[in-house]
Amino acid sequence: MGLALAARLLRTGHRVTIAGRSAARLATAHQELIAPDGAAAGRLATVQVDVGVEEQVAALAGAPYDHVVVTAVDAVGAYAPLPAFTVEAARTVLTTKILGPWLVAKHLGTALPAGGSLVFTSGAAAYRPGPGASMIATANGALESLARSLALELAPVRVNVVSPGWVDTPIWDTLAGDAKDERFAAMAARLPTGRVGTPDDIAQAMVALMDNGFITGTVLHVDGGHRLV
Ligand SMILES: NC(=O)c1ccc[n+]([C@@H]2O[C@H](COP(=O)([O-])OP(=O)(O)OC[C@H]3O[C@@H](n4cnc5c(N)ncnc54)[C@H](OP(=O)(O)O)[C@@H]3O)[C@@H](O)[C@H]2O)c1
Repeated sequence: MGLALAARLLRTGHRVTIAGRSAARLATAHQELIAPDGAAAGRLATVQVDVGVEEQVAALAGAPYDHVVVTAVDAVGAYAPLPAFTVEAARTVLTTKILGPWLVAKHLGTALPAGGSLVFTSGAAAYRPGPGASMIATANGALESLARSLALELAPVRVNVVSPGWVDTPIWDTLAGDAKDERFAAMAARLPTGRVGTPDDIAQAMVALMDNGFITGTVLHVDGGHRLV
């Protein structure tokens, strides 16, 4: 989703910094993002950061960002029945989905200009939980509460959340493996939209939240109607 957002913002002339833990994955993303014609190269920066490590997030402060969007999740071990769910996996989910956005708010949110915004990424599991995803559901719900609180504390900087439904991203290669196409087809048949989401569906919604100066403390559901079925 982060990659799709960066691509959309670069296409529309913005300056973009992408962040993640892996230098190699950032280099690949950089290549992919400037590939269309190379014209965006001067407007794209990469920064290696673990969103759960305070010194690394704090080191980003001082850059003149207008908006910061967090899409990070480390979901390794996060889809497991309770008896097999390790505390380490639970902490990793909470660190990436709750503590990370909170650290971003603490070190970057306070420095954003009026009209700037934070956008976090929760997920439909907060509303349509499934067995084995207890910590993901918990984190998504808590993140939305965090955003409402921060919308007051950081005002006039706006704080919003996009809550995606099932979206075809690399996370599903791990979650579903060879069963991905089958599971997506079954979900598509249930959804009012008749399809699962694309990363650009989410990127488009994030841009809408960044652009609209009268939206704050809001959760925008981009889930194909998943909450209703
Ligand atoms: N895909 C879905 O169907 C779906 C549905 C509902 C909600 N969501 C939520 O949407 C968000 C984006 O999901 P996605 O599908 O785009 O996931 P993804 O493809 O797995 O991407 C997650 C990104 O997070 C980065 N990341 C992980 N841990 C990090 C850390 N500690 N610090 C910094 N970056 C970190 C990863 O890069 P590195 O590993 O290189 O750091 C990766 O670029 C997540 O919050 C997810 O829970 C997804």
